[in-house]
Amino acid sequence: MFKVGFFQFAPRFGQVKENLSSVLHALAHTEADLVVLPELPFTGYLFENRTELEDLAESPTASATLDALSELCARGDFFLVTGFAEKAEGRIFNSSALVGPTGVLHVYRKLHLFNKEKEYFDPGDTSLQVQEIRGVKIGMMVCFDWAFPEVSRVLALQGADVICHPSNLVLTFCQETMRARCIENGLYAVTCNRYGTERRPRGELAFTGQSQVVGPKGEVMIRAASDQNELAVVEIDPEKARDKSITERNDLLSDRRPEFYRALVASSCKT
Ligand code: ACM
Repeated sequence: MFKVGFFQFAPRFGQVKENLSSVLHALAHTEADLVVLPELPFTGYLFENRTELEDLAESPTASATLDALSELCARGDFFLVTGFAEKAEGRIFNSSALVGPTGVLHVYRKLHLFNKEKEYFDPGDTSLQVQEIRGVKIGMMVCFDWAFPEVSRVLALQGADVICHPSNLVLTFCQETMRARCIENGLYAVTCNRYGTERRPRGELAFTGQSQVVGPKGEVMIRAASDQNELAVVEIDPEKARDKSITERNDLLSDRRPEFYRALVASSCKT
């Protein structure tokens, strides 16, 4: 068995130290193998422009925030997946990091930028990969990647048992859609969403909370409220994510007919 969870909270824009301290405080006594945090939980989400983002973004190799999370993991003997604004040689990505007691183990850069993110983030350029921790295969995606079933499929094809999904959701479809992503790929997904309203000079956004852990049959194992801090941890059985049979004669992965899916990998919509 493997214990996964999320910490849902409402980060304050630009208050990196305060947001970090909320996370450190909330997770000080966690008993889990892996905890997922929201997308951009330290900087906040609704940037005015690229300059503002640049001032708040960090390189994963020189990040006081990620160092503090790694120390937290070492103290509590667990792993974290967290969103963060990543600075990398003049580019800035909306990324997520797998962090453990020894530091940052892997960084994924969000492939599908949502709405105004396109004004100030660079689109992700990292491949979709799985990482193994404690015998369990972990894949990462970030928020709006949920709308592209290819992402979870590629992770499933690489053997992901659990998809970790830091989010700042504003549309209402994702939580239910993730149940389909889990059913069609036969795996677990942990969506950690923030809640609260971010009010900035250019506008405001309300985030939907309702972080959740979903199982391979689409079962919602736990779902948070839409308006409060919540730390939740559940036990999952990774073996259930390795059985891809859906009837006696059907297997979610080996029944695929990729020769009929070529349009999926064409770069234009015309086939
Ligand atoms: C989103 O991708 N933050 C909606």
